[in-house]
Amino acid sequence: MKKEESDVLVIGSGGAGLRAAIALHDQRIPVLVVGKCAKRDAHTILATGGINAALGNMDPKDSWQLHASDTIRDGGYINDTNAVLTLCKNAPAAVLELEKWGAQFHKEKNGRISQRFFGAATYRRACFVGDVTGKSILNTLVDQAEKRKIPFRSEVYIVSLLEKNGKVNGAVGLDMQRGEFVVFHAKKVILATGGHSRMFARSSSRFWENNGDGISLAYRLGAKFMDMEMFQFHPTGMVFPSEAEGVLVTEAVRGEGGVLTNTRGERFMERYDKERMELSARDIVARAIYNEVQEGRGTNHGGVWLDISHKPKSYILKRLPKMYKQFKEYVGIDISKEKMEVAPTAHYSMGGIYSDQRTGKTSIPNLFAIGEVTSGVHGANRLGGNSLAEIVVFGKIIGEYVAQEAKKDYLLPLDEKMIASTIEEVVSITHQKGDDPIALKKNIQKIMWKDCGVVREGKKMKQALREISSLKDSTFSTGRNLKMNEKLIAALDVRNMFPTCDMILRSALFREESRGAHYRSDFPETKKSWKKNIICFPKQNSIKVTSRAIVPVPREISKHFGDTNPSHKLLE
Ligand code: FUM
Repeated sequence: MKKEESDVLVIGSGGAGLRAAIALHDQRIPVLVVGKCAKRDAHTILATGGINAALGNMDPKDSWQLHASDTIRDGGYINDTNAVLTLCKNAPAAVLELEKWGAQFHKEKNGRISQRFFGAATYRRACFVGDVTGKSILNTLVDQAEKRKIPFRSEVYIVSLLEKNGKVNGAVGLDMQRGEFVVFHAKKVILATGGHSRMFARSSSRFWENNGDGISLAYRLGAKFMDMEMFQFHPTGMVFPSEAEGVLVTEAVRGEGGVLTNTRGERFMERYDKERMELSARDIVARAIYNEVQEGRGTNHGGVWLDISHKPKSYILKRLPKMYKQFKEYVGIDISKEKMEVAPTAHYSMGGIYSDQRTGKTSIPNLFAIGEVTSGVHGANRLGGNSLAEIVVFGKIIGEYVAQEAKKDYLLPLDEKMIASTIEEVVSITHQKGDDPIALKKNIQKIMWKDCGVVREGKKMKQALREISSLKDSTFSTGRNLKMNEKLIAALDVRNMFPTCDMILRSALFREESRGAHYRSDFPETKKSWKKNIICFPKQNSIKVTSRAIVPVPREISKHFGDTNPSHKLLE
């Protein structure tokens, strides 16, 4: 069995992990990046429409304070205040750094980075590379990492973290290409594993990613989690054909003037947010579409129409090339002439590991976290364009912090028994006989989509909890092979999904109100008493759920809140 040593192990090869690795390297810390995907193919490439930074290039009145105020107001006022301030203050420098490193942001005639509207933003704030912004940012970061010769292992599925005396000191991974286990030994481990949108049947992620890996790795060590009920359903995913179901239709379509209509031809956003219309916050637009479909004004495929055909084809090809290609290839339509059919799709995990966003520290010694696997920055509803900003801002800050910590520390010896039992646990799955794990995974996703989706209800969530719990002791038929074994990978995914779904459902049941993306038909009001975060963690074979108070928002930010968030009036 191979063993690899570094001062810091970064698990996750998307933007957050890479930006942290660059920061660590620049502080002369030996770092190793391990990713589940192929290089340059991490989930970051699916973030398409833009990265928020209050550069004020298009609207000089924009400021980091307004960016912070938009983020907290449409985040349902439960964001981690300090994290938001850090994000918004540092986003402009992060974007300029990416530009310096080669990201090909769209420019205005004056040479400045162009900015487009995104939902819930007071001003044009999203910097973009057509509609392939995430891909461009990821490639830029990979180029920088390669320039620094940062070691990189791809297509490795991390199956467990390792610890010594309660302190994390590495991980065990399965190299899926070679079919062999690898032990990673490190002083510090950073989880940058992304979100868990694949808990849901309709998702904007690809089936092999976002299966709750990071959540489950931390859970098994007893970590704390926050706001797991807060899950974002992006308003516009594809609904047709079935192989494209859930694929993202970027918010940039609406940012560029795209109009939503129901089958009666009504521009229905007028009823839900007259002021901001299609550029309302994601939770509001997603519920509006859901509502239109529920009330019989949806298409045969259960969607509504999104139309950008009033824009010239040349404009669409320049600003939305991916969308043009996507609809041409999947549906065979030309979006400069025809409407797109769209409906909500599971997109982003606002909740996740409870950590200090300024240091990345989790509740487990030596374990750090960055990006979508964490919680707090986005509160109850993330603004489009804030996730790309988050990964580069916090990647740098946390990478630099962990570098200082790693300098002070030494490598704890590996626990060979723990390594052996971890490997044995995975190998034992391949000796089982039982269900098809791919089918079981789909079953869990269906339950979550149906009973814990855009609109939730206590009775249904309790039923989902029971149904999913009853599957926990399932055994699987995967075959013995460790190499490129899809069924074994699905079985490992299912193992990660159980605690993730469990915490989502229990937190969603605990929060007896509606706020941001968490809408409960049995508790439709937003309640002052629930303006707090929900914390959960494993305790004695179950999950303990509790809450914590919010850090007050400084006047400099709160004075901009206004009174424009109508999200919780919807569906009442
Ligand atoms: O719609 C989008 O382009 C998604 C962007 C994001 O989630 O930030």
